[in-house]
Amino acid sequence: MLLSARALAGSDPLLVTDAQALPFPDDTFEVTLAMHMLYHVPDRTLAIAELRRVLRPVGVALVVTNSENHLHQLDDLLVECAAAATGVDRLPVRSFISFTTESAADELAAAFPRVESRVLVSELVIDAVEPVLDYARSVSAFVADTAGQLNGVIAELERRVARTIRDEGAFHVRTAVGCFVCR
Ligand SMILES: C[S@@+](CC[C@H](N)C(=O)[O-])C[C@H]1O[C@@H](n2cnc3c(N)ncnc32)[C@H](O)[C@@H]1O
Repeated sequence: MLLSARALAGSDPLLVTDAQALPFPDDTFEVTLAMHMLYHVPDRTLAIAELRRVLRPVGVALVVTNSENHLHQLDDLLVECAAAATGVDRLPVRSFISFTTESAADELAAAFPRVESRVLVSELVIDAVEPVLDYARSVSAFVADTAGQLNGVIAELERRVARTIRDEGAFHVRTAVGCFVCR
């Protein structure tokens, strides 16, 4: 990611570091961003406090995360395919993430006096099977443990998505992503 950011960053420094312990003094930045990443951090309270600590008093932190309903048609279909192919349902919950647009405001409010949210609901209209299979492979650890099982899940998914595209013209997947503006 840093390599791909290098061209845009010019001579500005790029750094890999832990969001739970930012190596910067208090009141350093006018803007901090946490885009689709706080749900990975073990101590999220600490990371959110760090986002605030390094921000100047007039600064703003922008935090982006997914709704519980983001890609839910796709995740539900994966659960069905996993169950059909393996006989085991390994995806009992719809959402893969614990920090969602539904829960984020309360957590962010612990560090920021003012939190506003803007949620963008949209839809993917998918008329080719391969991107859906790529998504399934990228989250395959949630669906199947072994390559043998995964192949069966992918084959089932391919059959179902191809049938939907043939019958309905496209496979529709709702997206819902929120940006929290924190001051
Ligand atoms: C889904 S990616 C999002 C990347 C990028 N922000 C974007 O929106 O395309 C999640 C990112 O969180 C980073 N990450 C996970 N745990 C982290 C931590 N404790 N501190 C800093 N970054 C972390 C990962 O390295 C990964 O780059």
